[in-house]
Amino acid sequence: MSDLEVRGVTYVVGRTLLDDVTLTFRGGEVCAVSGPSGSGKTTLLSIAGGLVEPTSGSTAYPAGPDARSKGTSMWQGTGDPRPEVAFVLQVYGLVPILSARENVSIALRARGVAPAEADELAEAALARFHIADLGDRQVEELSGGQMQRVACARGFVVGADILLADEPTSELDEGNRSLVLEELRAEAERGAVVVVATHDPAVVDACDRHYALDEGVLVEHVPPRTRRAQGSAAREPAPVAQAPAAAAVSAPAVGAPAVGAPAVGEPPRHRQEEPFETPRPSAPQEPPARSPFARPVDQ
Ligand SMILES: Nc1ncnc2c1ncn2[C@@H]1O[C@H](COP(=O)(O)OP(=O)(O)OP(=O)(O)O)[C@@H](O)[C@H]1O
Ligand SMILES: [Mg+2]
Repeated sequence: MSDLEVRGVTYVVGRTLLDDVTLTFRGGEVCAVSGPSGSGKTTLLSIAGGLVEPTSGSTAYPAGPDARSKGTSMWQGTGDPRPEVAFVLQVYGLVPILSARENVSIALRARGVAPAEADELAEAALARFHIADLGDRQVEELSGGQMQRVACARGFVVGADILLADEPTSELDEGNRSLVLEELRAEAERGAVVVVATHDPAVVDACDRHYALDEGVLVEHVPPRTRRAQGSAAREPAPVAQAPAAAAVSAPAVGAPAVGAPAVGEPPRHRQEEPFETPRPSAPQEPPARSPFARPVDQ
C-alpha cells in the first residue's frame, strides 16, 4: 500500500492558484479536501493525479512491495503516470451520445481490456451505484444525479491505485450519498489512495483525514486520530502563519499532528482502535478527563 505525496506544489496561471501545498494522501484512507468555491480543490486533484504539471513542487507515489504500479519507485505526476489513476470529474466528462454502459466500459477499453469483458465489468460497476437498469440509456437522457453515478462507476471500474473524486456526491440525495461513501470506503480498503473534494460536512465527517484549502493555501489538516477523538474541537481556530489575511478558517499548524495523532510516516491507527463516535467513558471515581480526546465527537 503506497501513499500519494504532494510536496511544495505551487501552481501559477496569471495568479497563484496553489501556494506551496504539501500533504500526504495515504493509501487505505479516504481523505477529504474541502474549501470554498475557487479555493483550488479541483486544481489540486488535477495536479495530484498528473493531469496538470505544477509550476513548482512535485507529486510522488513511491511504490510499495505490493503496489501494482509499473516500475520506478518515484512518480512525478506528469507524462505517463506510473500508478493507475482514476478520476471522477466534477463536471462528469461523460459522452452524451453514448450509453451509460459504454461510458463506463470505455475507461477499460482505453486500458486495453477486451470489449466484452469491459462491458461486463461496466455492468457490475453500474450495479454498485444501483443504476444497472440504466446501462442502455443514453447519457443525455439521464438526470444529473444519475449522470453523477455513471461518472462514479467509470472512475471506480478501473480499480485504480489512486482514485480522485471531485465532488462525487454534489447532486445526490442522502441515500445515494451514503452509497457513494460506502463505495469510496471499499476502494480504500483494497489499498487505494482515495481523495474526495467536497463542500459537504457530512462527507468530510465520513472521511479518515481532512485537508482544507483557502485561496490556494492549505489552512487545516485534521488527521484520523484527532478526528476520531476530538471531532469538531480539532478545528478550533488558531493562527496559521501561511494563511492569507482573508482566510476565514485557521487551525493548528499544517502538518503538525495534534497530541496523540499519528506521527508522519506512522500507519493510520483508526478502525481497530477507539471507535470514532464512542469515546471511552471514564470510571466514576476517576477525575474528569482533561484530555480533549475524551470528549464526544459531537460536542
Ligand atoms: N486554467 C485556469 N486558468 C486560470 N484560472 C483558473 C484555471 N483553472 C481554475 N482557475 C481558477 O483557479 C481557482 C481555483 O479553481 P478550482 O476549480 O481549483 O476551485 P475549486 O475549489 O475546485 O472550486 P469549486 O468548489 O467551485 O469546484 C478559481 O479561482 C478558478 O477561477
Ligand atoms: Mg472544483
